[in-house]
Amino acid sequence: MSDQKMTGDVYYPSPEIVQSAHIPDFDAVHAEATADLPGFWGKIASADFEWYKPWRKVLDDSNAPFYKWFVDAKVNIVHNALDRHMRTATRNKAALIFEGEKGDTRTYTYQQLNHEVCKFASVIRSMGVSKGDRVTIYMGRIPELMIAMLACAKVGAMHSVVYGGFSTEALLSRIDDSDSKLLITCDGAWLRGKIIKLKDIANGAVDRAGTIQNVICVKRTGHEVEMVPGRDHWYHDLMALPIASADAETEVMDAEDPLFILYTSGTTGRPKAILHTHGGYMVGSATTLKWVFDIKPEDVWWCAADPGWITGHSYIVYSPLVNGATSFMYEGAPTFPYPDRWWKMVEKYKITILYTAPTAIRGLMRFGESWPNRYDLSSLRLLGSVGEPINPEAWKWYHRVIGAEKCPIMDTWWQTETGNFMITPLPSVPLKPGSATRGFPGVQIDVVDEEGDPVAANEEGFLVIKSPWPAMMRTLYQDPDRYVDVYWSRFSEQGWYLPGDSAKKDEDGYIWVIGRIDDVIKVSGYRLGTAEIESALVSHPAVAESAVIGVPDEVRGNIIKAYCILNAGATASESLAEELKAHVGTEMGPIAKPSMIELVDSLPKTRSGKIMRRVLRAQTMGQDVGDLSTLAD
Ligand code: WT7
Repeated sequence: MSDQKMTGDVYYPSPEIVQSAHIPDFDAVHAEATADLPGFWGKIASADFEWYKPWRKVLDDSNAPFYKWFVDAKVNIVHNALDRHMRTATRNKAALIFEGEKGDTRTYTYQQLNHEVCKFASVIRSMGVSKGDRVTIYMGRIPELMIAMLACAKVGAMHSVVYGGFSTEALLSRIDDSDSKLLITCDGAWLRGKIIKLKDIANGAVDRAGTIQNVICVKRTGHEVEMVPGRDHWYHDLMALPIASADAETEVMDAEDPLFILYTSGTTGRPKAILHTHGGYMVGSATTLKWVFDIKPEDVWWCAADPGWITGHSYIVYSPLVNGATSFMYEGAPTFPYPDRWWKMVEKYKITILYTAPTAIRGLMRFGESWPNRYDLSSLRLLGSVGEPINPEAWKWYHRVIGAEKCPIMDTWWQTETGNFMITPLPSVPLKPGSATRGFPGVQIDVVDEEGDPVAANEEGFLVIKSPWPAMMRTLYQDPDRYVDVYWSRFSEQGWYLPGDSAKKDEDGYIWVIGRIDDVIKVSGYRLGTAEIESALVSHPAVAESAVIGVPDEVRGNIIKAYCILNAGATASESLAEELKAHVGTEMGPIAKPSMIELVDSLPKTRSGKIMRRVLRAQTMGQDVGDLSTLAD
């Protein structure tokens, strides 16, 4: 593509950035990957990773959409994230630099992190956790969360991390659905100077969950918590016992064996358990980090997401370690005690790459540029964005104020399901604020209409992915039919993956993601299903029926508005509406709390009884409600 011909607001990378990047010529690499996809990934997989046993075939697509990658290979992602570094100088390099909200700091070298992971792996093995078991992890953003995940992977168990912002009901349904036998949690987490009482919330779930045999609790905040004798154990007590042996074998796994499940919200009903594997996920997540964020040995990489989401799984825990990089992790809120906290840490730790979400940027932007301007941010060389479309205004602020106009912004589009970046620039690619640019090398992205025909430039359509990739989810845990139905049935004839987003493609082939086409709401970048929030509302005795929609918000992207029909006998009042908001907070977690509740007598429905959320959305935003021919009354 000739630079002169590009349309719109274009930011070109400097020649220095292009020359020093791992991939200076995107088009050439993309063409190579497109010409021979298995050959492309096979070459990378042999060059950058260690396998106990090589694969027989890179890609098996004979049973699509149940794709297999690196067929018959033996591997463990932890072997590549930790074990192999023990033989090189990486052993003495910082793997993780941590700062707590109160200012406490800890640094783990690769050797030290490996030591902790080995000990904890021995502990959970002694509790009977082994290959194929499920372990639920419910913790704050602290190093032990990473240690727990790695220990599970090391013994071959599947972790299921539940975000610490979720509450009892959400935790319970995820424990039950996965049949976890062990829960790893902590007494509490620091957030905005206060304690989130995770162990108390966990007790509410574990008491009712049938499968949990043991609970391991990390002491973080030190407040009094209830420990059930025989069931609950302190992490530090266990780690001091002889069972916590540093001599721990890494389980030899098949490349296609599950590494973890991670629940994410979907259109209907229960959350979906996305399943990722040891082999393909390792190759895909590590390669995308290396190329997109151009990881070099001297970098200090800061992915400011939560490890409880896929962003943290892929880009805090696994791929930085597989690349032998130094990661920074911060426990608390960006504004605690003041809105300069992040910038202070960028200066203090000389962060070179910062990866965060539009909602965080917009949130910090509100406080004005005098906060970041007080700090030396010149160590930064690349910036990143993820979670929802970034509005050009926030992009430009991030670029000018934080990046001093010299740091390219990698706007990465991907999903829990995709495991790694899918639509993303590389540092050598010209940028347009608000566009995630094009598919990663080998990823065939398109925007199509109902029939699957490509739409004209700048027309809205369905985003589709036309080729498989190594880090793709393999199935929904224990629900393969739903996997096929949700992601592969819309364009089954063509064999395309449907992410559930709408998008436009411009004259230059750049993708502009618009938003979800289903009943999923992005609040501060977090993905919430209307169904889960609605069932939390209906679990309140006063509520008969409810419908939830997302309403655009300047900082959070969307906020939640709920409509409720009350049961006979319940009286509508301001205080009841407040009570219902609080109820969702306790059931599901603070992030799912509706900002507005409207108590109504009826909801717009189709004749078949489906709630028409689009009508509610249009009404709320004062727009035309559109075609109402399917409305029941
Ligand atoms: C959905 C996936 C992948 C990590 C965090 C979210 C939206 C994500 C972008 C982006 C526009 C984006 C999409 C997608 N999304 N990144 N750069 N530009 N939209 O993972 O919770 O599975 O959510 O987030 O709607 O489908 P997730």
